Amino acid sequence: MTIKVNAKTKEFHLFNEEISYIFRVLEKSSQLEHLYYGKRIKHRDSFKHLIEREIRPSCNMFEGDHTSSLEHIKQEYPSFGTTDYRYPAHMISDKNGSTVSNYQFLSYEIIPGKPELPNLPAVYVEDDSEADTLEITLRDEVLQSRLILSYTIYAKRNVVCRNALFINEGEHSFHLENAMSASVDFPDAQFEMLHLNGAWAREAHVEVQKLSRGIQSIYSVRGASSHAHNPFLALKRPDATEHTGEVFGFSLVYSGNFLGQVEVDTYDVTRVLMGINPLQFKWKLNPGESFQTPECVMVYSDQGLNGMSQTYHHLYRSRLARGYWRDKVRPILINNWEATYFNFNEEKILTIAKTAKSLGIELFVLDDGWFGERHDDTSSLGDWFENKEKLPNGIKGLSEKIDDMGMKFGLWFEPEMVCKDTQLFKEHPDWILAAPDRRASHGRNQFILDFSREEVVDHIFTLMDHIISTSKISYIKWDMNRYMTETYSRSLEPDRQGETAHRYILGVYRLYERLIEKYPEILFESCAGGGARFDPGMLYYAPQAWASDNTDAAERLKIQYGTSMVYPLSSIGSHISAVPNHQVGRMTPIETRANVAYFGTFGYELDITKLSDEEKEKIKEQITFFKEKRNLIRSGEFYRLLNPFESNEVSWMVVSEDKTEAIVGYYKVLATPNDKYYRIKLTGLDADKLYAIQGIETTHYGDELMNVGIVLAEDFTDRASEYWQREKPGDFSSKLFVLQEV
Ligand code: DGJ
Repeated sequence: MTIKVNAKTKEFHLFNEEISYIFRVLEKSSQLEHLYYGKRIKHRDSFKHLIEREIRPSCNMFEGDHTSSLEHIKQEYPSFGTTDYRYPAHMISDKNGSTVSNYQFLSYEIIPGKPELPNLPAVYVEDDSEADTLEITLRDEVLQSRLILSYTIYAKRNVVCRNALFINEGEHSFHLENAMSASVDFPDAQFEMLHLNGAWAREAHVEVQKLSRGIQSIYSVRGASSHAHNPFLALKRPDATEHTGEVFGFSLVYSGNFLGQVEVDTYDVTRVLMGINPLQFKWKLNPGESFQTPECVMVYSDQGLNGMSQTYHHLYRSRLARGYWRDKVRPILINNWEATYFNFNEEKILTIAKTAKSLGIELFVLDDGWFGERHDDTSSLGDWFENKEKLPNGIKGLSEKIDDMGMKFGLWFEPEMVCKDTQLFKEHPDWILAAPDRRASHGRNQFILDFSREEVVDHIFTLMDHIISTSKISYIKWDMNRYMTETYSRSLEPDRQGETAHRYILGVYRLYERLIEKYPEILFESCAGGGARFDPGMLYYAPQAWASDNTDAAERLKIQYGTSMVYPLSSIGSHISAVPNHQVGRMTPIETRANVAYFGTFGYELDITKLSDEEKEKIKEQITFFKEKRNLIRSGEFYRLLNPFESNEVSWMVVSEDKTEAIVGYYKVLATPNDKYYRIKLTGLDADKLYAIQGIETTHYGDELMNVGIVLAEDFTDRASEYWQREKPGDFSSKLFVLQEV
């Protein structure tokens, strides 16, 4: 049993061996009061002793009562306008213009397992014994509306999932102005806020800031989760490190506009809100209609940031990702984007594929430029039929030839977009998002198809289905290269325009679902100009995502380190590309490029035919190595050791579940002369196991490796002892240590 209820005092305790989450129903107002979230505490019949009240100057709900101010009560799903002045978890405007709401406790239900969220991605259970769900039903008598707050606690994971469902049971409509997925009031403000910040080509940079009074937030109003912020934030205690201390993670399973907000009030109470961004959101609920929020996945760790990340990794790898590819090693791919950009023909593609095949690469991915008159980024999105000049035998012919070579074939689409020179746009000019009588802004010369409309999604499905069903396609890269502007749908009533952005995302999910249903064995990789939609919502449909258009190894250290805060290695698209690197012009050794790309799904993105024989030999070795280790990398426990945002050295490692094997990546960004001594302290090993490290003669016990570390000093006994004669590593050097139990 993971949920205990005191029906008399109306208290709820969700717990497992590691965490407790406690709340209750307020006696007079029947609203929900939050009591505790954190490390597991012993169950008591009542937790009323945790209630905190002070007489303070404030407005109170009940006359004659000076302790009924919601401003001073920690809550579960607060509203605005009835004595709480902090930002609320929900707001509704009634037909008379009032924005006051008052949802009061009605009943509760405990459901074994975890119900699905209709039409939305969510984490799941495979067996009901994995989790229990508590549904709290509240009702606002004036609005005649029901609100169901759902809490799932996993038995063996430090995870609580939350969502909210609004139902209009009355006879008139009202509008949801704000409907967050979760809200938690912490009793103090001794936290730092950690989040992933970025831009195109520098996604997922880790930012940490001390909380200050007032509001600090991350958000997107770009129609995608975005390069700028990931739908994730963590509150960490100031003394928490990668390995120790308390961390609370909040991750939204959603791919559109979101808000993650932390408000510290004047009494140092900290409120975290996570959900769809209220800016540009307004949802009309007619009688009988309901609105389901996306899910917020909350993770507690008392083992520092690594502890939090590992909980997310396990959950997202095995209970968010689904289907055929979930537990399988992924093919090593080669993508032609950085090799050819738009300039290719069948012959060129086949030459790349042939060379790739001879080196052991398993999947060829044809990127942008295969359709319509797409010779640059100004045209043709939406005309999803082959350019016969480039591909005289079509996708069908090309895919068959690649298949005949013994390689799999993958194809790029950007299904949500259209260019104005296309047949699609000429036939359906009103299918783009654009406000009436206003200019429609472009992004990369393209416009966004209104995926909130069923017929648009159906049409794109038909076009894609035609290509897929007539060719041999094993993989699809689904790209999305611009943000929303003028977010207006020609198919919605004026008072429903605030629904467009969310309805659009539901349309994207619908198209994914239809394709997955029809082609369950196709491996999807999501992409949005790199990592603009690297979010849990996407992972439900596409088990891997392109982390960034930046393929430079040194830049990737930061991007992949940050991405790993939430997302498992099995989801992180990472490729070796050419030097000088196309995004930053940097030269990095091919070994380092591999040593970085191994910690992800691994592939190549360069003109492999132009490499020297020596480089090709190295690639062959890399591929052999990765094939041997990819299951460990996909399924092992990942630990971050040295942080690229804090130092010139970076390190991370992955350890097999049974701790018999491990791989450690160590990277030194800039070379330093006549330097200090270096050691890397490992973690996650078995203290008593004896490990051999490839390339190092001696063996080491796990306890030594974790407490002393790998000593990085070089052995000069048989080598030039003169500093000037030594071979210098140069910038961007790296080492890979492979550990195996002896
Ligand atoms: C952006 C993607 O992130 C790239 O990998 C590539 O597919 C281009 N789009 C193609 O236009």
